[in-house]
Amino acid sequence: MKTMNTLSGVTMPCLIYGTAWKKDKTADLVTTAVKCGFRGIDTACQPKHYHEAGVGEAIQRLAGEGISRQDLYIQTKFTPLNGQDPLDTPYDKRAPLSEQVLQSFDVSKKNLDVAYVDGLVLHSPLENVERTMIAWRAMEQIYNVGGTKQIGISNCYDLEVLKQLYAEAYIKPAVVQNRFYRDTGYDNEMRKWCKEQKICYQSFWTLTANPQILSSEIVLKAAHTYQKTTAQILFRVLVDEGIVPLTGTCSEKHMKEDLEIFHFDLPVSLRQEIASLFA
Ligand SMILES: NC(=O)c1ccc[n+]([C@@H]2O[C@H](COP(=O)([O-])OP(=O)(O)OC[C@H]3O[C@@H](n4cnc5c(N)ncnc54)[C@H](OP(=O)(O)O)[C@@H]3O)[C@@H](O)[C@H]2O)c1
Repeated sequence: MKTMNTLSGVTMPCLIYGTAWKKDKTADLVTTAVKCGFRGIDTACQPKHYHEAGVGEAIQRLAGEGISRQDLYIQTKFTPLNGQDPLDTPYDKRAPLSEQVLQSFDVSKKNLDVAYVDGLVLHSPLENVERTMIAWRAMEQIYNVGGTKQIGISNCYDLEVLKQLYAEAYIKPAVVQNRFYRDTGYDNEMRKWCKEQKICYQSFWTLTANPQILSSEIVLKAAHTYQKTTAQILFRVLVDEGIVPLTGTCSEKHMKEDLEIFHFDLPVSLRQEIASLFA
């Protein structure tokens, strides 16, 4: 697995296994993914979409089979109230926001059965910068006591919000995790700015939101020439562009195909031509 070194000095895999929507299959699928070769796992303390304890179960099983926690990059999220199921919120809904972040993190540690995580991500900005900074300060507190090796933000599509967060943060965001799609112009400005600050851009919805890229003439031609799937071509181009894609595939065949992207090269000119589809 190819890795990168982040702003916070964390070694992060260049392709991450996402665990959303897997419910009681989470432990089996994460175990399979790691056995196939994945070393990065993305989850969240958000029972509505993630079975975080299932990830914890997989981590325990893998340790028993010789793949230790230290071999893994484990990333979870604090999800603000508006992203939680009101009937299944993993922290006290009436507690102050900063307390909610700390409570959520304690639940994550318990679910995952780990002493620390490698990344803690704010699932989305709050309703204003002041509130976002309250959550961020609590995440910095977790970072400062060694609870997480780095912190980041997700679903942040307004570059000004990210810049303001960056300016006010004591601990700078190391990760931005966003939906990679046409409606936001593929976050072009944001990605450029992130690159300048050495912030890692992680993409989700990468395959689902981009059928027009996957069925484009250039991607189909590249897939045919290099005997790869269109998904492999797109993931490979993204990785070459410095993006870390998340893949939540439930198929072992696709897991293996996704990991194979590190075993072939594309000519720079072809890569640039494909990248121009999301430039
Ligand atoms: N921060 C956020 O708000 C947020 C939101 C959504 C997701 N995420 C994260 O991102 C992860 C990925 O989610 P996603 O929305 O990008 O979708 P996804 O769960 O990765 O699903 C993508 C689709 O692509 C298919 N697929 C995957 N690899 C393939 C391959 N090699 N060839 C062909 N098809 C392939 C999958 O089908 P098969 O299962 O059949 O392969 C699935 O239908 C999530 O698990 C979660 O960790 C974060």
